[in-house]
Amino acid sequence: MLILETSLRSRIVSGSRVYVIIIKMLQTPFYDPNKSYDENDKSGPFGAFADGKDLRAEESPKYDFLGFKIHTPFGIPSGPLLNAKFCQSAFKKGFNVIHYKTRRSVKFPVNKWPNVLFVDIDGDLTLEKSKKPLIGSTTTNKDQTEFSITNSFGNPSPDSRIWQEDMKKAVQSEGRGQLLIASVVGTIQEGFSDEDYHDDFAKTAKLANETGVKVIELNLSCPNVANEGIVCYSKEAVLSICKKAKEKVGNTPLLIKLGYFTKDQQQLLEDIIKDTLPYIAGVAAINTIPAPVVDKGGKQALPGGPARLKSGICGASIKWAGLDMVKRLSEIREGLGKNFGIIGVGGVMSGKDFLEYRKAGADVVQSATGAMWNPYLAQEIKKTLNSRD
Ligand SMILES: Cc1cc2nc3c(=O)[nH]c(=O)nc-3n(C[C@H](O)[C@H](O)[C@H](O)COP(=O)(O)O)c2cc1C
Repeated sequence: MLILETSLRSRIVSGSRVYVIIIKMLQTPFYDPNKSYDENDKSGPFGAFADGKDLRAEESPKYDFLGFKIHTPFGIPSGPLLNAKFCQSAFKKGFNVIHYKTRRSVKFPVNKWPNVLFVDIDGDLTLEKSKKPLIGSTTTNKDQTEFSITNSFGNPSPDSRIWQEDMKKAVQSEGRGQLLIASVVGTIQEGFSDEDYHDDFAKTAKLANETGVKVIELNLSCPNVANEGIVCYSKEAVLSICKKAKEKVGNTPLLIKLGYFTKDQQQLLEDIIKDTLPYIAGVAAINTIPAPVVDKGGKQALPGGPARLKSGICGASIKWAGLDMVKRLSEIREGLGKNFGIIGVGGVMSGKDFLEYRKAGADVVQSATGAMWNPYLAQEIKKTLNSRD
């Protein structure tokens, strides 16, 4: 547990003064940023998330997502669930639609530690605010529903034979009314043309498909990769990747994961959705908002080259952006008169946030930052939803 703040209060009870110590603290995160990525992979998950208690729903699942029946349409997006052990723990805690962390066709190293820092942001991280340096540190004084972090891993991946075996175990840990989604990304390799890069996305999707996973997401929006860049803003690249991947995975539904599109990029967003719909079954949005992160002395906070000055920001401060994208995707869906799934991600830290996303049009809602520090978030959201039924 991370202690945020302690305070002393007193009150009179039956004529005597009683002192109460109030301790505000964060739960132990299931992915521990104080440990290396490899230690997390080997020994995680941590805290109550890993206590083995099975809190899954027993009633019949009543929600539908891409033709799969699911319990409360809530879960964890690609990122913090590094392997089958993490996925199994998430399913047990009632996170029903979860992603196995983004994988590549080739072994790929993780960015230098630290990979996660708290960032100090008041209110929303607007695009204007994201241009100026934010201060990153290992502690926060914000509570469970209010903090933001930066994460920067660079999509590390073990050799495909290793992750395929492990992903098969994660698929097997799915309970009734639960769904595992694989996330994949292409890797630029020596001498690769754009075409080769897009083929590598498709090859990785095929590798994921071989594990028996029921849905595959193409990660088109990672901001933490130095030379690969964010592909989701190029219509030609997105279309080419989707076409090639669909050829390789047959009937398995494909999702695309997008970053935030500004209002000026609305037409581009509409065109991307319209043109890729023959190949995809849904859209997940958003990834993170990139911003420069420095330490208190103003120096680059994350070690490595200058490319690491900027990293992805997630948590409470980006909820506005995720909600805005979901609303716009939902309007596009209505305008086109076509049905595709929408997964809403970004800043979901509470039951209230979940309901806001559902109202905006999300079929499924997911939380990375909020879930990492709150193993019971899925249970809280289930209660919120039940109290409205
Ligand atoms: C620790 C961590 C690792 C992440 N790794 C990935 C990843 O591998 N692939 C991906 O598509 N997104 C990744 N993300 C981004 C999340 O999927 C999500 O889009 C983003 O964090 C916004 O959600 P949040 O505000 O609930 O954290 C990661 C996020 C976190 C916190």
